[in-house]
Amino acid sequence: MNKIVIGSDHGGFEYKEIIKNHLLALEYEVLDVGCFDKSSIDYPDIALKLCEIVNRDKIKGILVCGTGIGIGIAANKCPGIRAALCHDEYSARMARLHNDSNVLTLGQRVVGEGLMLSIVDTWLDSKFEGGRHENRVNKIIKMEGEK
Ligand code: RB5
Repeated sequence: MNKIVIGSDHGGFEYKEIIKNHLLALEYEVLDVGCFDKSSIDYPDIALKLCEIVNRDKIKGILVCGTGIGIGIAANKCPGIRAALCHDEYSARMARLHNDSNVLTLGQRVVGEGLMLSIVDTWLDSKFEGGRHENRVNKIIKMEGEK
């Protein structure tokens, strides 16, 4: 069974719940790091929790906030994380093919529900191409060690 971890702040709570139900219907094992209601919460806390699980279990993660921006900025501070903000299917595909992104970030206030789920499916179904892109991703990983 494919395992995935999801999380959101209050600004992305409804989409996170929709994504969870969508992935459960596709028979994913879904770990949910919260939030669990619409009470205000700081998105860096959720990003950190999710990224720890992505690194520990070597799985992909999906984060949602109001714009997808703040939670993505926070996620990209965690070593090992390549978080990509994607609000169209082309970017979602390329974020996997070329960048081997392991976290997808989305903004609930930016895209409609139908497009959001297509972006999720496209991102999950696309595979890293490796080759010349591997060298580039390795350079990003090397930069983390130099901080
Ligand atoms: C919360 O209101 C909002 O700032 C947050 O969800 C996100 O959009 C930040 O980037």
